[in-house]
Formats: sequence, structure tokens, C-alpha cells
Amino acid sequence: MQNKNNNLPLLEIDFIEFYVGNAKQAAYFYQDYFGFEIIAFSGLETGDKRKISYLLVQHNIRLVLTSSLIPNSEISDHVKSHGDGVKFIAFLVEDSKLAYLNTVNKGAEKYLLPKLIHDKNGEIIISGIKVYGDTVHLFVERKNYNGIFLPGFKKFKKIKSQIDFRLKNIDHVVANVGWNQMNKWVNFYSTVMGFSNLITFDDKDISTKYTALMSKVMINSNNKIKFPINEPAKGIKKSQIEEFIEFYNGSGCQHIALLSEDIIFSVKNMRSKGVEFLEVPETYYDNLFERCGHIDEDISILTNLGILVDKDEEGYLLQIFTKPVMDRPTFFFEIIQRKGSNSFGKGNFKALFEAIELEQKKRGTI
Ligand code: FE2
Repeated sequence: MQNKNNNLPLLEIDFIEFYVGNAKQAAYFYQDYFGFEIIAFSGLETGDKRKISYLLVQHNIRLVLTSSLIPNSEISDHVKSHGDGVKFIAFLVEDSKLAYLNTVNKGAEKYLLPKLIHDKNGEIIISGIKVYGDTVHLFVERKNYNGIFLPGFKKFKKIKSQIDFRLKNIDHVVANVGWNQMNKWVNFYSTVMGFSNLITFDDKDISTKYTALMSKVMINSNNKIKFPINEPAKGIKKSQIEEFIEFYNGSGCQHIALLSEDIIFSVKNMRSKGVEFLEVPETYYDNLFERCGHIDEDISILTNLGILVDKDEEGYLLQIFTKPVMDRPTFFFEIIQRKGSNSFGKGNFKALFEAIELEQKKRGTI
């Protein structure tokens, strides 16, 4: 059911910012391995003596990587506590002050009072509220700004040309929260942010012989922003959500799904660069036709690339998951292509979680 609370018109995800130990090296990783282009930066050369940031873009996806230039800062504290991880999920809004007041009046915890920042290209108003763990939502109003990204950022001098991996949009952003915290955050997104509950997966949907989790997917009023929220469920062994929370030292963003317009092309390029993906057993593909019927793609190519398929009443989707891209076994990416299906690959959960358990075993955490 759509939530009627439309006081908070979030237009889309504006950018996602990671706090990392070494933004420069991370920028080249996402450029080479994921096909992003480094568009802009801010740091010492632009007058910021405290931090350095790189903006990476691919079609409508904007990622920002930020690291600290000083020993004691919010950034260095974040990295010390969580390792590299998502700090800001920023929304594009018409009116940042209104978004801030609306959410804070409904109980959101303050992070940043509406602040006007400007340069010769115009002005931006930005504000923020705290959400799960140390994660923050920013409300970015940029209708009076025509610069490259935000005031303080300058165009990055291209060092090499990068091929486009055909990753188009952010499809969904997933939160991992602690035991019995899922409904608290579902309630937050519903009452404070005006989201609705799109789908619920219980521990029977998402379990293997050993581990389990529960998930509810929240969606905003224009259906452009989807946030699944996971919590651990009881199993014989430690679930991947508990492992995440242990290594991330709290709740946080578990994965971002990047929407591809041609997943075979995207994954071929990523594999050729050396991106590591979770491997499902080859037997996964044995009954694919019985499970999914006709699909446009050549199954042998999907098998070679390890791309998973799931079908529902509306169509099908293709998806694949990277192994964690940070040192700690925390954050990873999903690459997804939708062919009618608006779901999240329920039919793949079991194979996927068995593959994750194999990785947990290698890490000695299960
Ligand atoms: Fe996902």
C-alpha cells in the first residue's frame, strides 16, 4: 500500500558518499573495476585542508569517496570504527529546509542544520538527519546551482579514458541493522520519511540449513528509491548480517545494487578487470529453464559469467553479487538488470546464501 505521507518529496538519490582510508586509491579502483569516471575532486588544491573527496560518475550514478587529511576528524573516527563504508545517502530535493523540518519534526535525529554553500556557479542548500548506525541522509537542493557537483569541487584532469560499463542507476540500497531493529527502521522510513513497505521476506524465505535473515523493502512515494532493511534471524550458525555487524562495528549500508542496461556486458568487463564475484555451484543452472522458462540471454554465457536469474509474475531479472570490496567483510555491490521484474531475486536467495556461507567459512566467521 502506498503511504499517503507525501510531505517529503524525495526526487531521487543524488549521491552516495563513502568515508575511506585512502580516497585516491579507491577512486582508481572504482574507475578501473566498475567503469566509473573520476569527474571532480576537492582537497588541498581547492583550498580544503581537512579532507579530500573524489566524485565518480557513470550515467546517473554518483559516488563520492572521501578521506581525512588530519588525524582527528569525523572521517578518521568513522574509518577507525567501521573500515571503509557508506556515510551519506543523499537525496535530491526541491526544498532542503522543508525536508529537514518535516523529518526532524517527526522525530528524526539532527545531523546538519540547513546550510547554504555557494561559489561562482550558484548556491546549494544542504541539510541532514541521522539514520541507522553512523549513516546519514542528506537533503540536497541544487536548483540554483550549475557547477560540476558541489561548491568546492573542481573538474578532475582526466588521466586516462575509461570505457563505460553500462551501469545506469542506483536500483536499491540495503541496510543491515541489529537484532530486532528492522521494524524500528521500517517504522522510521514509513512515518518520518513517507516510504511504504513494498515486500517483506521472512526467515523462511531467506534461510539455508545454517543461517537466516529477515528483510523488508521500503520504497518512497515516486518509487525511485528502494531501501531493503535486513536483520539477522536465528539459525544454527552465525548469519551474514551478524558477521557484517561485527566487522562494521554496528549497523550500516550492506550493499548498493547498480542497475545495468546490459548485465552481460557489465559483468564481462568487470570480470576482465578482476572483480571477484560470489560463485554459485554450476548445478544452479541445471534447472534454470524449468524454473524461469524462456529468457532472451544465452544460458551458457550466463553460466560462464555466474549471472543469476529469477522470474516472477511481471517478468524476470538478472543479478550477480561481488565479494566484499572493502578489507573487512562488510560492503559489496550487486549488479542487476531488470526485464519486467520489480522484485529482488527471491528464487536466488538460497543459492546465494549458501555461496556466502562458503565465504564465511573461508574467513573463519561461521
Ligand atoms: Fe540487493
